[in-house]
Amino acid sequence: KKADLGVLGLGVMGAMLALNFADNGGFDVGLYNRTHEKATRLKAENPDLAERLHPSETLQDFVASLATPRVIVLMLSAGSAVDEQLAQLQPLLEDGDIIIDAGNADFNDTRRRNALYDGTGLHFVGMGVSGGESGARHGPSIMVGGSAEAFKRLKPLLEPIAAKYDGSPCIDWLGTDGAGHFVKTIHNGIEYADMQMIAEIYAILRDGSGLPAGQIGDVFADWNTRGLSSYLVEITATVLKEVDTETGKPLVDLIVDEAGQKGTGRWSVIEAQKLGIGATALEAAVAARCISSARHLRLAAAEVYGDLGIDAAIFGTAPADIAELESALETAKIVAYAQGYTVLAAASEEFGWNLPMGEIARIWRAGCIIRSVLLQDIMQAYEGGASVQNLLLVPAFAERVKLGQVALRKVVAKAAAAGVPVPALSSALAYFDDLRRGRGAANLIQGQRDFFGAHTFRRLDREGVFHHIWPEA
Ligand code: 6PG
Repeated sequence: KKADLGVLGLGVMGAMLALNFADNGGFDVGLYNRTHEKATRLKAENPDLAERLHPSETLQDFVASLATPRVIVLMLSAGSAVDEQLAQLQPLLEDGDIIIDAGNADFNDTRRRNALYDGTGLHFVGMGVSGGESGARHGPSIMVGGSAEAFKRLKPLLEPIAAKYDGSPCIDWLGTDGAGHFVKTIHNGIEYADMQMIAEIYAILRDGSGLPAGQIGDVFADWNTRGLSSYLVEITATVLKEVDTETGKPLVDLIVDEAGQKGTGRWSVIEAQKLGIGATALEAAVAARCISSARHLRLAAAEVYGDLGIDAAIFGTAPADIAELESALETAKIVAYAQGYTVLAAASEEFGWNLPMGEIARIWRAGCIIRSVLLQDIMQAYEGGASVQNLLLVPAFAERVKLGQVALRKVVAKAAAAGVPVPALSSALAYFDDLRRGRGAANLIQGQRDFFGAHTFRRLDREGVFHHIWPEA
């Protein structure tokens, strides 16, 4: 019997997806990995699923082992590895076969690859998969891009392996070519902002309030029962409470403070900039990771400026102080999501995807890294096809932000006074303040531009475009 589909690339994510297809889908899964041993080991280590796992030693055998028209899921490191694999596969495939790139691809690459397959009879599908290792194994959130026709065939294969929220699978087709990978990229940009803002609150509680890691963990665990309830807050509590068995110290206190990044968060910000959208909390989060990784520079600067210290007296630990931080984080999080969604809306327009915004929130409610109760509210904001300019203008969010901005403002002000950096929280606040003032300060910038470059300006009191003859500097 031929396999229902094949998984190519059996790193952690590929291996977990293959097991998920066999287990939750009940599918026969062809397996291929450059180092064959990985494929045979996966089968050997999963005896309960072994009858549905079919490793092949060569790419030719792998392709031949799949039922036609074939479905091949690539799970490779994003970049040239994908192009190389596609080139090797193409001559072995036939009309109607579907190749899915399930890695964290740059959506620009996905668009390029899509165009490459146009008119060849083969289908190329760029698919965002979120949920890390455990999500891939037990139910990720799946963001599909490519042809709607290909998705029709893929749906019965993908629905059984996707996360379920109240029984409904967290998967959908979001648009043509790069739509799925773009949405995944923005998911990751939001993920970065979420993580950074959580880390900033942690820094306040650690360096401002002087709480030990375990107690900060308790604070996050408590917050996880209300408006901030989310996977990231939940794991934050767990990470903070973990104790290193060898030293007896909180493990988090022993971890080097340099954040890694593989690229998607950065891409989200680059794409936002290309689209002319200010996603400042996401930008701040990416920049903060970059600054964190310049540890030697930070240590040198600590030598120079360390005696300035942090004013620990500014942040208290009374219930009201903790509640203020909770409200600040919740408010800034709403702003970050609003920014992420404006990037999605702009891209949808630019690339003609017609992204289903409410549906994106729906499929992010389970399985993915940013799953949270907030996404339920975002989904509702788009209900009935409501057109949303910016989530901060939706009455339900406006009410929450009106209340919460008080806390966010106090926390950002206190952090500035104390000397605890809160770049993402303060970016979120500045964005909100910028958005809510009808009259900004860019009139001066226009004046400056016209002064030195005759770039012209428009006037409030007259129609038209003007250039002024300014006095010499
Ligand atoms: C997910 C995650 C995942 C991501 C890394 C984080 O949604 O499951 O976003 O896809 O690749 O876990 O990436 P960084 O290494 O950039 O932090």
